[in-house]
Amino acid sequence: GKGTYPFYMLKEIDEQPAVMRKLSQIYADETGKVVMDDAIIQALIKADRIYIIAAGTSYNAGYASKYLLEELVEKPVELGIASEWGYNMPRLSEKPFFIFLSQSGETADSRQVLVKANELGIPSLTVTNVPGSTLSREANFTLLLHAGPEIAVASTKAYTAQIAVLAFLAKATGTAIANKKAANFDVVHELSLVAQSIEATLSEKALIESKVTGLLATTRNAFYIGRGQDYYVAMEASLKLKEISYIQCEGFAAGELKHGTIALIEENTPVLALISNNPKVASHTRGNVSEVVARGANVVTIVEQDAAIEGDDIVINNVHPYLSSISMVIPTQLIAYYASLHRGLDVDKPRNLAKSVTVE
Ligand code: F6R
Repeated sequence: GKGTYPFYMLKEIDEQPAVMRKLSQIYADETGKVVMDDAIIQALIKADRIYIIAAGTSYNAGYASKYLLEELVEKPVELGIASEWGYNMPRLSEKPFFIFLSQSGETADSRQVLVKANELGIPSLTVTNVPGSTLSREANFTLLLHAGPEIAVASTKAYTAQIAVLAFLAKATGTAIANKKAANFDVVHELSLVAQSIEATLSEKALIESKVTGLLATTRNAFYIGRGQDYYVAMEASLKLKEISYIQCEGFAAGELKHGTIALIEENTPVLALISNNPKVASHTRGNVSEVVARGANVVTIVEQDAAIEGDDIVINNVHPYLSSISMVIPTQLIAYYASLHRGLDVDKPRNLAKSVTVE
């Protein structure tokens, strides 16, 4: 049950530090060495390209993991929207490897692609929260999320667990191919820092609530902007806000705004800017913030500590750049939660949606 929590979503948001720590117990031994079926790693090494196929929040988790996988596994990673690939499978590389991300393991759109992959003899891995689920049974390999049941329709802990599990996979594969960055990436230690960062953010719920309540109480639209990893978090943040608060929201690559969409910014348009500690992009995103401020936008900045400046609204403890999507998404989950709550909506059961989408 949800115990003393008003909604499952808030309980599941709060569970994320524990899920991060649990994954280190499951996927690593006491020395920090990753424990994972070697057959998965060998299959991945044989491939020339990784395709991640998923829907919704799981699709966004795939994007959040792309950079880390490419860096450590040394192969291109391509994303596929399951409902598109069922009918429009793109031209594939010679030795593809398919990864299906699915909290439920039952998403019909994803299954449709898996059926095709099996017909084509493409090796596949399902990363899911549900042992024995359809996608798990029909793929060659499975890695479990160990996040515990996710009841709220809006997915939270499954997203962060997916990124963490793929970090273990990247570390194990990178180690097997003697990738230097993999050797230097202590996934267990870094995830323990992520757990601490999440806890620090969760202890600031009242602050986060106060920063966004007025901003999102009556607005019809909003924007999330960011670059690089922050752009991927912006995609997920906007999906979450849309589905439970019914605010029309777009997650935008910050530099792309000026190519058209900035026309939508008017007096008091809420713009939430995500700025993780990546010196290559942080100052550019700041520039985009100034552009929307000049047009009257109401900006909330969500910034990693080392990139923070005077006047930032929500400051997040630093984590390893491979894992920043996990810590940066937490305030956006809370923002969606409080927006929904203050609009008097059923946070756990948004209209028109079901927890597991078993039709195409
Ligand atoms: C969003 C949400 C959906 C699911 C999507 C895929 O909060 O819950 O977008 O992420 O329907 O579901 P799974 O991961 O079960 O395949």
